[in-house]
Amino acid sequence: MNVKNELRVNALEWTGQSLLVLDQRLLPEKVNYDEYTDSQGVFKAIKTMRVRGAPAIGIAAAYGVVLSVIQHYSALDSNWKNKVKYDIQLLSTSRPTAVNLFWALDTMQQALDAKADNPISYITKLAKQIHSDDIQANLTMGELGADLLKNTDTVMTHCNAGALATGGYGTALGVIRSAYKRGLTKVYAGETRPWLQGARLTVWELAQDGIESTLIADSAAAWLMKTGKLDWIIVGADRIAANGDVANKIGTYSLAVLAKQHGIKLMVAAPVSTIDFEMESGEGIDIEQRNPNELLANCYINNDSLVSAWNPVFDVTPASLITAIVTERGVVLNPEEKGVNSLKS
Ligand code: MRU
Repeated sequence: MNVKNELRVNALEWTGQSLLVLDQRLLPEKVNYDEYTDSQGVFKAIKTMRVRGAPAIGIAAAYGVVLSVIQHYSALDSNWKNKVKYDIQLLSTSRPTAVNLFWALDTMQQALDAKADNPISYITKLAKQIHSDDIQANLTMGELGADLLKNTDTVMTHCNAGALATGGYGTALGVIRSAYKRGLTKVYAGETRPWLQGARLTVWELAQDGIESTLIADSAAAWLMKTGKLDWIIVGADRIAANGDVANKIGTYSLAVLAKQHGIKLMVAAPVSTIDFEMESGEGIDIEQRNPNELLANCYINNDSLVSAWNPVFDVTPASLITAIVTERGVVLNPEEKGVNSLKS
């Protein structure tokens, strides 16, 4: 497969000495890349959601570590290793739920611990490898997921689990891209309040590939399931526990409950770097709470004390509601039965 031709949208681009980040807060009105030359900048880009989506957060953090090494090692600072450690610690506080962040930072830290001298080219190569492995994993998942969608006409997705959220091609949207080439005809995207990843990102990203999608209000999902012909819901994940419970964008759990009621199947597509084998069940997953102002109308924000808002941005879907978990290492059907430990290397 020609990977270059598969990638039209890039969330991240490594220039050799800096990281270009597509500012997803501005999409779809504006396609604007910011350039980051230090890890503090990358920390801020993740925290403020210029870059978002579990795998993309991990990849950005890996490049953030490279920038830290370039900064401190090149300055001939004898304390460079501790300064990089400090930057890694800061990056780890950018967002709590997506395990890809911690996986990427651990991978980079372990490499630094093992390699004492001339780390720049080695560590750069490793970050680029994490990036390209993610794209390859998505291409593999796309095919495996599309195999499950045989004879499927209509799917729905939630949030944005596409090229914008990954190294490229996407997890849930990777499956949709691959299935579209095989004859999938109809894609619904939920708008995904409050940040509107579906309305602003998913429908735009699919349009770049000429894949037509239909946007629905989140609150229309139940009625679509009742009155439409929906075969599968396909989503990504931020963290998958060993028993197959899945943390993903807020609203995934309600879609899963609705899908059960209407006999619709639910697929979770995610790379193995999204599986937290140490986490027994979804109960232990830290669910990020974001600023209530993301929900509140401006008139409330400026008039603070009257109204409050609760804004958890992820939820956990129990394995019992999931039909299949698709990874680059293979597919687990009915994860409720044995969890995902069979995917451990
Ligand atoms: O808050 P976000 O936009 O970072 O949340 C993203 C999601 O929940 C995605 O579904 C998940 O990270 C998978 S992305 C391939």
